[in-house]
Amino acid sequence: MFQRLKEKWHLSWPRFILVFSTFALGGSLCGYLGRMVMGLSGLEKNVLYYILYIILVTLFWPFCVITISIPMGQFPFFRNYLRRMWGRMVKKGRESGLRHEGSENQLQTTNHKHRTTLAIFASGAGSNAQKLMEKFTNHPFIQVGLVVCNKPGAGVIDIASHHQVPVLLIEKERFFRGDGYVEELQRQKIDFIVLAGFLWKIPEALIRAYPHKIINIHPALLPNYGGKGMYGMRVHEAVLAAGETQSGITIHYVNEHFDEGEPIFQATCPITPQDTPESLAQKVHALEHRHFPEVVEKLLSEV
Ligand code: GAR
Repeated sequence: MFQRLKEKWHLSWPRFILVFSTFALGGSLCGYLGRMVMGLSGLEKNVLYYILYIILVTLFWPFCVITISIPMGQFPFFRNYLRRMWGRMVKKGRESGLRHEGSENQLQTTNHKHRTTLAIFASGAGSNAQKLMEKFTNHPFIQVGLVVCNKPGAGVIDIASHHQVPVLLIEKERFFRGDGYVEELQRQKIDFIVLAGFLWKIPEALIRAYPHKIINIHPALLPNYGGKGMYGMRVHEAVLAAGETQSGITIHYVNEHFDEGEPIFQATCPITPQDTPESLAQKVHALEHRHFPEVVEKLLSEV
């Protein structure tokens, strides 16, 4: 459970311990204040007492954790955490308000306004693309609108057709020397681009058209084992040849250099002396499938 929370919040272990302690201390302070105020009220311990106590504690809680977060040095984390919580509550409130009015159509329009349409760029087997499509089928605010592929016959094409996602087959000349397919992507109302096993470099025209809106997954712990020519099995071979004791995945923004954009998320897996490039590839794939859809969802829920 702790490991999951740590990964969900993207924290190192020392920071996770500080954040967790802040939750614990904030909760205790909140309970203490709640009991103190209820004591002053002079009410007897009946149903009304407990209802009022729960309301008080709910109201005190954000103030208590934010106060404790300051001496613990965790104020930015809790400020963002409470902001996100508040945002979700407001959104839920709006949705249920609309539902109560019985305006299902209005709800769909409201959701649609915030809906992000993804293009998945992939040119391999497409197992990551598949996980993304599964995650975002009937998703409230994300949909996969397009698969972009540069290899006729790639496995990802069948996966896309299974999920009824249109495929755009691209060719080198237009991608690198033309408009980078920007107009086509805009025509298809693509808001965000996810590279999932796409091996061509992204041209500047595309990066300019989608600033901070293109992300990539890499099967190693960048900044090591990245760059031109570092993909798929070559990465795992290099990691093993260097005698590493762990590898993992990196999800990062894409800039004009291979595998150098700002990192968003990393997860690790151990390497044993028995590992081969194939067994390491399996471990890394398992990490990718587990985290990639969640990280994309989290990222898009924050924009
Ligand atoms: C994935 O492991 C991804 O990290 C890697 O290609 C594989 C595609 O697998 N990407 C790179 O190496 C990019 N440098 P998939 O087609 O089964 O999703």
